[in-house]
Amino acid sequence: MNKNAYKITGGRPLRGHINISGSKNAVLGVLAASMMIDGACVLENVPDISDVHVMVDLCRSLGAVIESEKTPEGSLKLSIDPRTINTYKATGPEVSKIRASYYLLGALLARSGKASLRMPGGCNFGQRPIDLHLKAFKAMGAKGANPEDLSGGIITLKADPLKGTNVFFDIVSVGATINVMLAAAKAQGKTTIINAAKEPHIVDVANFLNAMGARIKGAGTDTIRIVGVPVLPGNFSYSIIPDQIETGTYMVAAAVTNGDVTIHNIIPTHMEPLSSKMREMGYTIEENEDNDSIRVYREDDEVITGTNIKTSPYPGFPTDLQPQAVVLLCLSKGISKMHENVWQNRFQYIPELTKMGANINVYERVALVSGIEKFKAATVEATDLRAGAALVCAALAAEGTSYVTNAGRIDRGYENIVEKLRSLGADIEESSVNVYDIDGEA
Ligand code: UD1
Repeated sequence: MNKNAYKITGGRPLRGHINISGSKNAVLGVLAASMMIDGACVLENVPDISDVHVMVDLCRSLGAVIESEKTPEGSLKLSIDPRTINTYKATGPEVSKIRASYYLLGALLARSGKASLRMPGGCNFGQRPIDLHLKAFKAMGAKGANPEDLSGGIITLKADPLKGTNVFFDIVSVGATINVMLAAAKAQGKTTIINAAKEPHIVDVANFLNAMGARIKGAGTDTIRIVGVPVLPGNFSYSIIPDQIETGTYMVAAAVTNGDVTIHNIIPTHMEPLSSKMREMGYTIEENEDNDSIRVYREDDEVITGTNIKTSPYPGFPTDLQPQAVVLLCLSKGISKMHENVWQNRFQYIPELTKMGANINVYERVALVSGIEKFKAATVEATDLRAGAALVCAALAAEGTSYVTNAGRIDRGYENIVEKLRSLGADIEESSVNVYDIDGEA
């Protein structure tokens, strides 16, 4: 069986400097938001990753004109003109390739009062309902989709007009917060989102919309107030914030290889949930004076001890760094606890990590991790995007040659991961693998 894989020969400490790319989750929200504006815009620091390519294709399929230019730094610069949009339907199969396609519901409702969307896809962490999004749109006057029955697979909403209201979320949801913010930016009157999510990418989407002429206050707190405006003029440039999860992944890769890496173009406060845990474990995390880079290393005589981590919405520990943090816990002394508090089923990668020698027992949403000396090389499958990144970290630390298969899942969220890791001294290459030969099963 041939699969696209990363071949990694581990045991080399990562050393040097790297730059972090623009945030995947921010740019996907901003791209959807760009479909609502009444002028053109330019997006900079856009990560060149496959989720962005899918979202750009989706926006083009609506009729928007998007020109993409690769910059010398490796990111994309997108020139976007949504004024040629000629449909409110995003119902093609590509919608199901990513989660963030659901933002087109809010954006198209804002644009024309109508939206039709195929159910979104994304990583499989158990149930991923969108009932909160739909209940909020309904409260704003949108009719059509019944949140209890989405069996048809296509959601169609119509509002005449969309009206501002108070929206209370009983669960903190990143996607629902952004989606309501999009719809409310052009709705009639005021919307207040109570118990909003506070992730950095929510602030980025709000900043983008405000730069276009929206009136949004309080993004980054749990109460967001939006006064709808009839027109969003656009005609400006906007640069996407750095990716919190990519940064955290390189912090873990540096740590588990006993390396010394300085990670540039980041926002250190976004990293505090991980940095504080890593310091507690014994790693040294230094922020530079300009507040835009972080150095990760371990003092020679420092013993790395385990700790307990619970994922929760920002500013809590990000669920999207949970698998990478488990790799970190594996190489620490003692027994550690990882409590996955956001997703129902986000430990699917643990059997893969076990093939590499990890000693982990899962009890529902809690993983008990017993520290080991070393990982061993193995052929493992990237069961989803961040799980794949975690397995890459483990393979970089393992003695011998590992293969991480289904690497396309990792490319969804990591720009140039092979080149970036190589520049730090890693032995990693793309490979087409005959998995059964390697496993000796053929
Ligand atoms: C986003 C991120 C994803 C991250 C997650 C949590 C994007 C594209 N994806 O996903 O990488 O893991 O935030 O930080 O930005 N829920 C409901 N009903 C809803 C919506 C959510 O019950 O209508 C529940 C979910 O099942 C989950 C929790 O709320 O248990 C949080 O989900 P949410 O924050 O909405 O995640 P996403 O926006 O899908």
